Parts: sequence; C-alpha cells; structure tokens
Amino acid sequence: MKQYSWWQKGIIYQIYPRSYQDSNGDGIGDLAGIRQRLDYIQSLNVDAIWLSPIYPSPMHDFGYDVADYCEVNPIFGDMADLDALLEDIHARGLKLVLDLVPNHTSDEHRWFVESRSSRDNPKRDWYIWRDPAPDGGPPNNWVSFFGGPAWTYDERTGQYYLHQFVKQQPELNYRHPDVLPAMLDNMRFWLDKGIDGFRVDVIWLMLKDEQLRDEPLNPDWDGINPIGKLQHIYTQNLPGVHDIIRAMRAVLDEYDDRMMVGEIYLPNEDLVKYYGTRREDGSFDECHLPFNFQLLLLDWDARTVRDAVDAYEAALPQGAWPNWVLGNHDRHRVASRLGQAQARVANILLMTLRGTPTNYYGEEIGMENVPIPPEFIQDPPAVNQPEIAHIVGRDPERTPMQWDASPHAGFTEEAVIPWLPLPADYQTRNVRQQEEDPTSMLNLYRSLTKLRRSEPALAVGDYASVDAGAADVFAYQRTAPGANAFLIVLNFGEQSHTINLSEIATQAEVVIATGLKRSGTVSLNALELEANEGLVFRL
Ligand code: NOJ
Repeated sequence: MKQYSWWQKGIIYQIYPRSYQDSNGDGIGDLAGIRQRLDYIQSLNVDAIWLSPIYPSPMHDFGYDVADYCEVNPIFGDMADLDALLEDIHARGLKLVLDLVPNHTSDEHRWFVESRSSRDNPKRDWYIWRDPAPDGGPPNNWVSFFGGPAWTYDERTGQYYLHQFVKQQPELNYRHPDVLPAMLDNMRFWLDKGIDGFRVDVIWLMLKDEQLRDEPLNPDWDGINPIGKLQHIYTQNLPGVHDIIRAMRAVLDEYDDRMMVGEIYLPNEDLVKYYGTRREDGSFDECHLPFNFQLLLLDWDARTVRDAVDAYEAALPQGAWPNWVLGNHDRHRVASRLGQAQARVANILLMTLRGTPTNYYGEEIGMENVPIPPEFIQDPPAVNQPEIAHIVGRDPERTPMQWDASPHAGFTEEAVIPWLPLPADYQTRNVRQQEEDPTSMLNLYRSLTKLRRSEPALAVGDYASVDAGAADVFAYQRTAPGANAFLIVLNFGEQSHTINLSEIATQAEVVIATGLKRSGTVSLNALELEANEGLVFRL
C-alpha cells in the first residue's frame, strides 16, 4: 500500500502556549507546563503539536511580534526547556511544529531597530518605508487588520512604515534581496534542531504591490469590520509570493520528512495554488498543506457544508493533500458558534473527512468562549476597536485550559491570577470530569481519533458524498482498497429524521454515535436519526 507521511495521516493539535499549563506560577502557560501534559496529549491520539509563537516578544500581538527568531521567550522558559520538550515529544513518536512569522517582525527586533535608525542604514529597505503623502498623511489607503491605517509615521526619519497588524509589527520587504535568505536561515536554525515543521503566519500576505497603489473599495463590505472595507488586491495573494514560498519549501526539502502548513484565507481556486507545482515524484513545491479554513467560516447547514466539501475536493489538484480546521486562536470557539450538540457533530465531521485535521486545544472538551471583563481585555483588535470588540476580540477563545475542578481549573496555582479568566462553569466542564463521564465530548473525541488512526479508509481513504434525502443531513462514504469502508451520517438540524440509505447497504454497524450510547447493527432503509445526531457506520 502507498506510504503516507505523518502530516497526511496524522492529526495536528494546536496549543496556545500562554494558556495550556503554567508550571512556574506566573499566571502564563509555559513549555515545562506543556511537557507535564504530554501524557494527556498522547491520550488524544493526535500526532503533531503545533505551538503558537514561543519566541522573545514584547507581546503586543501575543508573540506574533517576534523580537528574535532563534530564541525562546523567558516567559515560556529557555532553550533547554524547548530541547527537553522536543526530546520528549519525539520519544513518544509525536511531532513538533512551530509557528513561523515571516511577514513582520517586532519593532524591537534588531533588524527594525537598525532600519528605523536612519534613512541610509543598510537595513533601511528591509522594511517598507515611504514618504508621507503630499498632505502629510499616510502614503496610501491601506488598512490594518486590527483597525486604523496600515502606516505609522516615524518622527526620527520623517517617513511612514507599513504594518498590517499592530504598529509594533513592521512588515518585512521581501523585494530586498537579503531578507528572504535571512528568514530561511531562521528556518534552518530550528530544522537543524529537529523541529518537524512550521505553521507559517499570513503566508499569502508576504508580498505587497511595488507601487503601493490604493486598494479599491469593496462593494460587498458588511460595514462592520474595517478590514473588509477594501479589496485587498495589492496587499494579499500577489503572484510573486509563490516564489518566496517555493524558496521556503526548498529549505524544508533539505531535511527529511518536514512539513509546512500555510495560513491562507482565500477561495478554493486561489488557495490550491499554494500547493505549488507538482513534481515528478508526485510531491508539490510550495506548502504541504495550505490551511483550509472553510469549516470556521461557513454557515452551519448540511447543504452548505456538503457543497463546500465537494467543491474543495473537486478543486484540489491531483495528488494534493486536503486538510480541515475546526478552530484556532483567531476564531470564536466552535462550541460557542454551533452549540454543544452541534460541536459534537462537527468533531465527527473533522475526524472523518478526507485530509489532515487541525484542532485547537480545548475543543476536545467543548470549551466555549469565555466572557472577558473589560479590565482583562488585551487583544489588540478588541482594544483598538471597542465598538466591535465582541466580534473581533480573540481573548475569549484563548483562555486557560480547563483541567479539573480545582482553583483556576488546575491551570496555575491558587494564589495566582491567570492572564485570562476561567469561565464560571469550569468546575463542570474540564478534562477530569469528562474522563469520568463515559458519554463526554472528550470520550467522543478519543473514540474518533482512535478509530481514525486504526482505519485506513478514515485516515487516508477516498471520500464521496451521498444523497441522504433530508435537507438537514450530510452523509458520505470513506473507502480504501482492501480496508473496511465507512459511512458517516450527520444531522445538522434540531429535528429527527428517518432516512433511507439502502442504496449503500441494507444494514451497517454503528461504531461511533454522537451520544456514545448507540451501537450494534441497524437497517439502513429506515434509519432513525435523532436531532443533532451524528453516526459513523462500518459497512
Ligand atoms: C495571524 C495570526 O494567526 C494572528 O493571531 C496574528 O494576530 C496575525 N497573523 C498577525 O501575526
């Protein structure tokens, strides 16, 4: 049988290091804390851990403002902690993926400190500097994702610099010949250490229009989030960005079995270009996985999701490996978006679709958005845009992991105030409690990941959607030569349905049900599906 790499057959588990486990009583999670929790992580049957940035950073964007690409932030520990974590992860047969943030640095990075020091500094053009417009304002109309203009005026040298996030995140200029080689060296530093890959931050933003032309207004803007006001034709998805990504991939290819997953929010036809060109050996020359965020963004109804899955499958170049994401540190928690009942259905979907699943810590226990009292709000888009903080603020999905019913849910010591608050109900929604409850979300998650790992059809097999005859129901088959076949039937609705799937088989065995109560062989010609029920059948 064909061989698959870990990043194809495995599951990626994202950890937000500030919030997983505090080991030193400062209210912020750290590497030693993650290390203490490896038994748990392994018990989830996941294969790779992706850590959001752990580098030195003044934390204006919680680590996505990197001040040194080749060091560990003392908040999280030191290089010895990282080495020990990596060693333990590898000893368990798991992989470690780091976040790489190449589009921008912190304004405290030595490159920018030099760049801003004078107009003739050799690093001046490592960043994007421009004279003011004739009226003294910013050079063009570009806006920041976090509100306000994408330009900040620097008194010292009388020019503006570009930043599409906070002003402490100046953007590197990949048109300068020395910038990319310097970033590739940062990658080699970690690859030499044995890191298994990178999740690359805003990879589709790395190149900007050379002439810095104004972006046109977006006629479809919903009037809410200012970033949607413009059509980002000069700041995103520029054709030349693919040359940069190809160079990054070439570095990964210098090593064995490493992986690059790119953060890209684009429609299918553009997204799939980030796999690059297919080579003779069947591999591609850009991202191993361009993140597919559709499950985070789509309206949650069976027809929409089925159409999206089918369209994505159809858009993939032959041999390109799919992937699906259910949550991340930038999006509201899936259990809050969909409710607990549908979050279970969503977990079945994620773990049974074709392609690498990425899920976000806490989803396995149905963690919800945590309401953040005003004095705790710290995420820059929420701070900068208080009127839409409830929409754009990301603190609610970044709160401490809920381990048990002890003070602060076992995240930190009792006397310490965690950096973000715990929800009021953590005593009833936590890992310990769910381990004891045979029908918990955690047990559902573990059954799914275990099944996926042991069944080739689910891990790497083909996908085909099936007409279920009810608008609320999405059904599909997974098959692989010489292996058990599976039928997945998901009720996205609040009503029960009786459906006829006898064209697939007359009867089938329930192996997993959302409620973890149903089992045994059932007839498929009058299959009764409860409200919010998902079923995985072995055929
Ligand atoms: C995308 C990251 O996921 C987000 O958290 C961050 O704020 C921006 N990129 C800027 O780095």
